[in-house]
Amino acid sequence: MRKPYIAGNWKMNMTPSQGAAFAKDLAKALEGSDVKVMIAPPFVTIPAVLEAVKGSNLIVAAQNMSDNLSGAFTGEVSALMLKDLGVNDVILGHSERRAIYGETDEFINKKVLLALSEGMNVDLCVGETLEEREAGKLEEILTRQVEIGLRGVSAAQMANITIAYEPVWAIGTGKTATPEDADNAHAFIRTLVEKLYTKGVAEELIIQYGGSVKASNVKALMSKEHIDGALVGGASLSVEQFLPIVSFDK
Ligand code: PGA
Repeated sequence: MRKPYIAGNWKMNMTPSQGAAFAKDLAKALEGSDVKVMIAPPFVTIPAVLEAVKGSNLIVAAQNMSDNLSGAFTGEVSALMLKDLGVNDVILGHSERRAIYGETDEFINKKVLLALSEGMNVDLCVGETLEEREAGKLEEILTRQVEIGLRGVSAAQMANITIAYEPVWAIGTGKTATPEDADNAHAFIRTLVEKLYTKGVAEELIIQYGGSVKASNVKALMSKEHIDGALVGGASLSVEQFLPIVSFDK
């Protein structure tokens, strides 16, 4: 049985004080809930949020990290710094990192291996653009992103990997993939992981869907066989919108 895993990617939103207030409200609202929930604040907001959610089960993750552990890398944040704060989870390969900051599959893979070697959990994002989907390249793109993203990751380390399927055309656009389309892409990823590893690894893998997830569509998405969770952007920024997503099965 795969346990549902709902994540909120705050992107470049929420100052430390806003984030702390929000996280406190969220942690309170989630008291007693057994769904696995992660929130990913901007780096500088993380310490305030960690303090605000102390004692709760909320996972606080980073949205990115450096491909190096330390050194002359101006503007970067290392896994060692995150771990020192108590952050053990990181989102890598988000489509905004790929599209806006030019992160390649090879570069993302380097970060994935570094995070795993530091004992961190990785939420690896993959997904096609509209152009790629319309050109019939969905499977080719997913194969490349998954194969290269996971290159060198052992079967044992796959226990620390979550994959988020986020079709780029559905992110922040209000357009959601139909539950069927999303489920097909998830099934494709699961089969790919089975080929790269084992049936057992593929069956255990949590695959989140991301792209305009909201209270009104989460239930239909989560009812699909291969959709095990959600990576939520816009709708993760208010307790009113995020809570019904986390409580999709209520
Ligand atoms: P969205 O973002 O929910 O605002 O579409 C999802 C994401 O980018 O992770």
